[in-house]
Amino acid sequence: MRTTVGIIGAGPAGLLLARLLHNAGIDSVVLETRDRAYVEQRQRAGILEQGTVDVLREAGAAARMDREGIPHDGIELRFDRRRHRVDFPALTGGRSVMVYAQTEVCKDLIALQLAAGGPLLFEAEALAVEGAGTEQPRVRFRHQGREDVLECDYVVGCDGSWGVARKAVPADVSRVFERTYPYGWLGILADVPPSHDELVYARHDRGFALLSMRSPTVTRAYLQVPADTDAADWGDEEIWDELDRRLETDDAWTLKRGPITAKSVTPMRSHVHEPMRHGRVFLAGDAAHIVPPTGAKGLNLAVGDVVTFARALVELRDTGSDARLEAYSATCLRRVWQAERFSYAMTTMLHRAPGATPFDDRIQLAQLDRITTARSAEADLAESYTGFPLD
Ligand code: APR
Ligand code: PHB
Repeated sequence: MRTTVGIIGAGPAGLLLARLLHNAGIDSVVLETRDRAYVEQRQRAGILEQGTVDVLREAGAAARMDREGIPHDGIELRFDRRRHRVDFPALTGGRSVMVYAQTEVCKDLIALQLAAGGPLLFEAEALAVEGAGTEQPRVRFRHQGREDVLECDYVVGCDGSWGVARKAVPADVSRVFERTYPYGWLGILADVPPSHDELVYARHDRGFALLSMRSPTVTRAYLQVPADTDAADWGDEEIWDELDRRLETDDAWTLKRGPITAKSVTPMRSHVHEPMRHGRVFLAGDAAHIVPPTGAKGLNLAVGDVVTFARALVELRDTGSDARLEAYSATCLRRVWQAERFSYAMTTMLHRAPGATPFDDRIQLAQLDRITTARSAEADLAESYTGFPLD
């Protein structure tokens, strides 16, 4: 099999890249190791930055998002039993975010790709990427019990944090930067309308809590828990009681409870693989970087990477200049490190680390006090949360 761009992985990065290339008249093949049902059911975050919303619209992949997504013009910070709203458009010159689950973005992109696009092979596992330093890199893969080879002009590894593409970058030129946080998130889905019309990020002496949503009838919520927690150890009422405690305010706000339909624990880590390119093999999305979920940046970074790659390839085709392609890793890493910085800052400001001292608590409260009283600090949060325009 032969194609211009071999894409490994049908998460948001690989699926959106295939769409952007198709729209630009560049052919690609997507190889995905899992089956379609698995990819369409995987629960992930659901905050789309302004830039991501714009890209999905330009790509013709936003029809359902525009019908069902919920635009959000702010978030609430909760601490010391107080509430503070961060008004995004007022602080950023009109930028906001959209609440629309990553799973739904993937479903929409899969439907488009199967209706009109290059091949998207499910249950096709990439085994190795070869010839990164040559003009014709190859992906060896297994599909329907048979081994095959995909010959490409370029390979983009969109194969997530456990993928194989990363191995195409030789160990002597790669560097990995990592931080593991000593806690995780217990996440729930519940059949009950959200208790607040915007997301609530709460700092509490018992640990962080986040109130989010999936639709006007489905609540998504998270509790900071020890990293080794088994979700099954938490009873439903125990989860609601703990959310209640951590979200409690001095006014009349109340938490709505309902049947919990899913429970899982997410570990928290930061990870960056540099460089994001070796020869004609490029890494995009989780294959190159992981952020803790507190800033909701994972999906948006994946979108940024593939937009940068697609624009660079189109520029090469149209002008003969490979300057953007050469700059791919540096362009993406600059954005990645800004997202790592923001996610780290949000995470450490809002979570209680094991062994945290009263001094640490006071510093967190001082950071929150600063954000809620100094417009420059609040604007910095709003700008980082809604994201910067893509270059
Ligand atoms: N061959 C083929 N496909 C593979 C292989 C392989 N060897 N290894 C992994 N994959 C597939 C996975 O099954 C998955 O569907 O690659 C895909 C990677 O998708 P994601 O993990 O969703 O990663 P990405 O597209 O970069 O999206 C980033 O996902 O983890 C979240 O928070 C993160 O929202 C962010 C987003
Ligand atoms: C989610 O709704 O899953 C979600 C929202 C905001 C975050 C992380 C996750 O920061």
